[in-house]
Amino acid sequence: MALLRPAATALILILQLFTLSNAHNITKILAKDPAFSTFNHYLSATHLADDINRRQTITVLAVDNSAMNSILSKGYSLYTIRNILSLHVLVDYFGAKKLHQITDGSTSTASMFQSTGSATGTSGYVNITDIKGGKVAFGVQDDDSRLTAHYVKSVFEKAYNISVLHISQVLTSPEAEAPTASPSDLVLTAILEKQGCKAFSDMLKSTGADKTFQDTVDGGLTVFCPSDAAVGKFAPKFKALSAANKTALVLYHGMPVYQSLQMLRSGNGAVNTLATEGDNKYDFTVQNDGEDVTLETDVVTAKIMGTLKDQEPLIVYKVDTVLLPREIYKAVKKAAAPAPKSSKHKPKNAVADGPSADAPGADDDGEVADDKNGAVHVMIKGSSVLVSAIVWLCFGI
Ligand SMILES: *[C@@H]1O[C@H](CO)[C@@H](O)[C@H](O)[C@H]1NC(C)=O
Ligand SMILES: *[C@@H]1O[C@H](CO)[C@@H](O)[C@H](O)[C@H]1NC(C)=O
Ligand SMILES: *[C@@H]1O[C@H](CO)[C@@H](O)[C@H](O)[C@H]1NC(C)=O
Ligand SMILES: *[C@@H]1O[C@H](CO)[C@@H](O)[C@H](O)[C@H]1NC(C)=O
Repeated sequence: MALLRPAATALILILQLFTLSNAHNITKILAKDPAFSTFNHYLSATHLADDINRRQTITVLAVDNSAMNSILSKGYSLYTIRNILSLHVLVDYFGAKKLHQITDGSTSTASMFQSTGSATGTSGYVNITDIKGGKVAFGVQDDDSRLTAHYVKSVFEKAYNISVLHISQVLTSPEAEAPTASPSDLVLTAILEKQGCKAFSDMLKSTGADKTFQDTVDGGLTVFCPSDAAVGKFAPKFKALSAANKTALVLYHGMPVYQSLQMLRSGNGAVNTLATEGDNKYDFTVQNDGEDVTLETDVVTAKIMGTLKDQEPLIVYKVDTVLLPREIYKAVKKAAAPAPKSSKHKPKNAVADGPSADAPGADDDGEVADDKNGAVHVMIKGSSVLVSAIVWLCFGI
């Protein structure tokens, strides 16, 4: 470990430099001109801003406040507005110069509406055509290729990563404007079962907690689904719980708010769950470990393995272990085991790091100062950052 620690620190630094040099922030770029405030507001409200910031090569076709009125006056849902605005995000780089030098005077380029799979056929492609007098026109491919908007000016360019171009009108299409599935059509248990979370879905149903989860979808819901293997391993312990504790444990796997991975990454701290009620906090801590996001309950640390479903207002992540709330497990431990100190961390992750709890080094990471289990957590963090750094170095992502 003595060797790994400096190596990990160096890699973290490299990672951070890499991230910083690539980072752009569309919200900040557009905030410089109040004429785009409405467009900017909706990029954030629909979370398209997060998607834009994550991409390394992107063009944003911004419209001013008066042009935005043409869609806002139609009273669309936020989900429909997201579809329409995603037509304004091209997954290629078009600076002002490139616009005027299009080969053969016309091109068709994929928008984020296409790349997110919401569009069928070519309906997510945007046609860019050089027309007479040095003008450049834009249209959506399926809209009879009518070129409904034209280029006004360049707002911001960072070649060849992000370009923000002002265009005259909102681009839209019947498909983007089509009513989207209403959130209440998102049946959580059906989604879970289709996405390899059958065991967790059964837990939801057997406790009746599925109804609470489902009722929360409309207002925003984040679900952390433990893998089937993790649920299987936990089954005997689960069986031993009282009905009320079973329900609380299951509810502990949901947050009554939509949180994209980007949002989880940027806001480390304690979060409430569906089990939170008055004095029963049932919260856990979201921690950012380089590229990884972990959930720390004080009893276990779970890692987010992937996103199973992201359709705002619902997002479902897969996690590698069942989240054990301290409200249930600390209490049980005290009653069952007379030596809570030594047994505290046995259950899950501690096993892998048992011999390496070199507490002295733990504090200078500064991340876990208030964490009683600091040593063990830091070890887990150090190695997962190291792993992601190595993955990054190998694949150059
Ligand atoms: C621009 O994006 C490319 C990947 O397309 C990346 O390698 C490069 O570092 C980025 N450049 C800047 C200045 O951000
Ligand atoms: C982008 O900039 C806005 C406004 O300056 C700020 O509120 C937001 O936190 C920034 N987002 C990121 C991911 O840095
Ligand atoms: C773009 O639209 C124009 C006008 O409808 C059409 O003439 C042109 O062929 C289209 N370009 C491409 C690449 O599809
Ligand atoms: C259930 O939780 C309560 C605290 O709310 C605790 O006293 C009890 O021991 C727990 N029961 C089981 C079986 O874990």
